Amino acid sequence: MKGIILAGGAGTRLYPLTLVTSKQLLPVYDKPMIYYPLSTLMLAGIRDILIISTPEDTQRFRNLLGDGSQFGIRLLYETQPSPDGLAQAFIIGEEFIGNDSCAMILGDNIFYGNGFGRMLQNARKNAEEKNRSSVFAYYVADPERFGIVDFDEKGRALHLEEKPAEPKSHYAVTGLYFYPPGISSRAHLVTPSYRGELEITSINQMYLADSLLDVQILGRGFAWLDTGTMDTLLDASEFVRMIEQRQSIMISAPEEIAYKNKWITKDKLLKSAEKYGKSPYGAHLRAVAEGKVRY
Ligand code: G1P
Repeated sequence: MKGIILAGGAGTRLYPLTLVTSKQLLPVYDKPMIYYPLSTLMLAGIRDILIISTPEDTQRFRNLLGDGSQFGIRLLYETQPSPDGLAQAFIIGEEFIGNDSCAMILGDNIFYGNGFGRMLQNARKNAEEKNRSSVFAYYVADPERFGIVDFDEKGRALHLEEKPAEPKSHYAVTGLYFYPPGISSRAHLVTPSYRGELEITSINQMYLADSLLDVQILGRGFAWLDTGTMDTLLDASEFVRMIEQRQSIMISAPEEIAYKNKWITKDKLLKSAEKYGKSPYGAHLRAVAEGKVRY
């Protein structure tokens, strides 16, 4: 399976923070935001990842993450000249995806919860072996800000709507999507919405209409964090800081995941740790290499 991280957009709601950098490079406590979605794809077992960003920012992501070899993965980069919608990622990434299945995560989406790795592996298998797509739903207080799904009494998805003025439910469709082979052909069928964008919701509606969409609910114990406003960005940092300090762990360290997956050697991990210098992140990677981290 291939993976795409979509990290475009002008981030105008976060100006002046994003005047000279990308939103997805801003810190979420102790690491750049993109480390979180990158970790999510790696937890799903995906090693071939395309990062799509704006023409100005793509080089910044390349400077930070390189070819991915330090994470035991392959990273490629493409640009999205203008933010014409999430579904466009599968057109930009058409060659990269080829005949493979593909997951996409939005570069500003942060997920955290027990058992998430297993859910991701299931979604991957669902796409690879059963030709089905998977999305994740999360109960939110402000559903009009998101793509929304509602369910019948048996828990089957009924409708999907993009930012409805009168939402039929409180379940937001999160920014993480798993699709079987053929996703790019579907993306070509999408026509621009009222806001002029190729909506990911339109693609999900196609799979739903064909009874090929599975919606997994992320329950109360899960955190799906928003980073869209000054306050939610700070909240995300606070959340990560609180969990990390309380449990003496690190959330979403790609090198740690790579090492646990046996994608990189101990030597390589230690080399990365050195690169991060005296930072807490570097110290954590050293502790992982020395077997001092509890799982
Ligand atoms: C996008 C999607 C929406 C989804 C959200 C998740 O919204 O269009 O369906 O619920 O991401 O973060 P946007 O961030 O483009 O407003």
